[in-house]
Parts: sequence; C-alpha cells; structure tokens
Amino acid sequence: MDKSIEKFYIETFGCQMNEFDSERIGYLLETCGYLRTNDLNSAKIILINTCSVREKADNKLYGHLGNLKSLKINNPDILICVGGCTAQSLKEKIIKEFPYIDIVFGTKNIKNLPDLIKKRRQTNKSICETEILKNYDSEIFNFKRTFKFKAYLPITIGCNNYCSYCIVPQVRGEEMSMPINLIIKKVENLISEGVCEITLLGQNVNSYGKDLKSPENFAKLLDNLSKIKGLKRIRFVTSHPKDFSKKIISVIKQNSNIMRHIHLPLQAGSNKILKLMNRKYTREDYMNLYHSIKSELPDCSITTDIIVGFPGENEEDFCRTLDLVKNLRFDRAFTFIYSKRKGTVAEKIPDNVTLNIKKQWFKELVELQNLISLEQNKKMVGLKFEVLVEGFSNKKDGQLKGRLENNTVVNFNGDKELIGKLVPVKIKDAKSFYLSGEL
Ligand code: 5AD
Ligand code: SF4
Repeated sequence: MDKSIEKFYIETFGCQMNEFDSERIGYLLETCGYLRTNDLNSAKIILINTCSVREKADNKLYGHLGNLKSLKINNPDILICVGGCTAQSLKEKIIKEFPYIDIVFGTKNIKNLPDLIKKRRQTNKSICETEILKNYDSEIFNFKRTFKFKAYLPITIGCNNYCSYCIVPQVRGEEMSMPINLIIKKVENLISEGVCEITLLGQNVNSYGKDLKSPENFAKLLDNLSKIKGLKRIRFVTSHPKDFSKKIISVIKQNSNIMRHIHLPLQAGSNKILKLMNRKYTREDYMNLYHSIKSELPDCSITTDIIVGFPGENEEDFCRTLDLVKNLRFDRAFTFIYSKRKGTVAEKIPDNVTLNIKKQWFKELVELQNLISLEQNKKMVGLKFEVLVEGFSNKKDGQLKGRLENNTVVNFNGDKELIGKLVPVKIKDAKSFYLSGEL
C-alpha cells in the first residue's frame, strides 16, 4: 500500500444523527483519498464527533481529549479534529482549553472538512469553523454506510421546538426538511445497492415538510416510501407527541413494511412540568395518543424518554410520572437525570431538589420500568417473528443478533452468512433488554 496515504480514525458519541454525520465524514475523506482505519494508533487524522445533550457527555469528551494529548506529544504530525454538538456549542473555547486540538468544526461544516485539513497542514495554526449555514446542504445524502443492508437517512435536520431543557436547537439550528423527491430517489438508490431497511431520522420527524416551499407532511412521505419496491423495512425516530397525526397511524396500519415501533418521548407525567418543559402537550393528550396507537396497531411497541428532576419538579410531580409509567407500560424507556445546559430556558428555572433525591427518583423509575420491560418481553416467548440479522451478539460468543419488527433485540445461534438477511426466529426466553431465540 502507498505509504503516503493518510489514515483517519473516527470516534462517535451520541445519537443516530451523529452516527450518520460520521458516515458523511467517512465518505468525504475517502473520496479525497484518505483511508479509514479502526486502529487509533495508526491514524494520522483523529476525528471526534461529540454529543452535548447532557453534561455527562461533555465530561466524557474532556477526559478523552486529555488522553489524546500524549499521542500528539509523541507524534506531533497527527491532526486532532473535534466536530459535532459540543464543538458547535463551545467553539474556540475548545482550542483555548486544549491548544493541541487542530480543528474544531461545527455540525453544519462537515462539507468543508477536507479543505480545513489541508489548510491546517499549510498554516500550522489551529482552526475553528462553526458558522451555522441556513440553506440545506445538497451533499447531505453522500455518506459511507456502516452496514451494507441498512441505512440511516435524515429527513429533517435541526429543531424548532425549543423544549426548555434542550440544547439541540442551538447546536443543530432551525429545522430544515429534505425535499421529498430527493428522499425518494435516495431510498431507491440505497435499495439498488442492497439496503433493505431504512431508518428516517429527525429530531421531530412528525413535523417533516412544514418548512418546504411547497409544504409536505410526514404521513405522505411515509406512504410514498412504503410503496417503493424492495424496501422491506422502514423505521423512523424521533416522534414528538404534539405532531403525531391520526393520518400517520393509518398510513402505518396500511403498510406492512412500516415497522411496528414508535419512539414517543413522554419526558414527564405532570402537566405542570410538561408546561415548564415547553412540550406543548398534556398528560391527557399523551395518553389519548398512546391509546389511539395501541388500538389501531395492537402489536406496535412504544418506547419513550423520561427526564427526572427537572427544575421545579416535586415529589407529587414525580409520582405522576411513575403513575403514567405504571399505567401505560412502555416496552422500554430511556431515563435521564435532568442536566442543566447553558443558554437554555430551563437554566434559569430555580431548582430546589438535591441531586441525591433526583438519584433516588431515578433509581425508583428505572427499577419499575425494568420490571415492566421484562413483562412486556415475556409476552413474546413462544411466538415466531421475522428478524433482520444485524451482526454478532455482544452477549454470547458466536451468537447472532437481530431485530424484531418492534425493535426488540434477539440473540440466537446461526451462521454468519445470515447477517443482512430476514429470518424467522422463535422466542425462547426474555430479559429486560433483549430476547433469546432459535432459528
Ligand atoms: N437533561 C437531561 N436529559 C435531556 N434530554 C435532552 N436534553 C436533556 C437535558 N438537558 C433527553 C430527552 C431527549 C433525549 C434524547 O435526551 O429525554 O428526549
Ligand atoms: Fe430537543 Fe425538544 Fe427538539 Fe427533541 S424536540 S431535539 S427534546 S428541543
């Protein structure tokens, strides 16, 4: 191999949108002649795609950047590049704190990365480029897939919802939808390349299309996509309850290739807290939506996100969340302790509850939900499902891992040739977070 070819290494933190952005970075750099490596020590360019949704993610990044310092001291030729949401939020501050960082690039500056790398090599001065551009990036659909058989596809980027705790609208900018014909064309392309499952991405996929010159809606997009020949599975995340229309439910019902799984963040069960969070729905609205989905799509799994310890939340508010969790019986919940983010509205709301109490509430909620998840998973024991085989299991050596229509993970014995195929699996046993089965 040509020794002059520089290798790059990407590390990704955070959500699927970041994973997708890393696929774009990979594509761009490979197109420019760089070679991807999974070995940090052989890389000449190290890229870190960061998440800043909670403080924990920021701290993880600082630790990580600290570790990279010795690598840079031993090999001053390597370039360390920091992108993603923390880069967008902290900008030059990252270089001030970690002067050995070569490039800081924002969430809307990925396209310029090859130029920034060249510039950095020529000028020998750290660079920070984080300007948020308003127009949508026509190259957004150029990416190098991690998997052959499945792909993420953003249909909107950015967010206009301004939930009071959330930093995403600041770091990802205003919501922008991709034109419907571009999405359809891209999906057709992906299918011709052997993809059978597409996951549509957006902070609030349900508001898709409102910003387009000739407005579109998510139900129509979903319906159009489901008619594309060869598209076996369509998924989408994330759904905001305030924009989830009855039409979307009926489109899912009419099309068997739209997977029966809806991630529907609740965030809190108390109307007082939902209002403070600026979520724009009540507990009752959420319950009605939940029951409409379940009555039209009885085999649809519903998962959720919940924040515990939001400023102003008291014992009574927390009990309302617990009560809703007990009643609705989510298949799975991602629970978080509230984390104060700079520049958000919630930053200014007085917070009188101690971290200890928040941790107790958190534990109580997690324990309750784990029991419910286990009960929900047990209902599938003895039944047979179609499973997309995704790779090797991380639980048991030699086993395969696949996903049911309802997004539950199942591990089972099988040949690696099955990876990327749809196979029938009978469920034998259930845990809170995954199932075991048999081909
Ligand atoms: N603190 C805690 N959790 C948060 N989330 C978003 N912002 C914060 C925050 N400041 C959670 C929400 C969201 C998920 C992706 O992360 O529950 O749905
Ligand atoms: Fe953040 Fe709310 Fe937008 Fe989700 S919908 S990204 S929680 S502001």
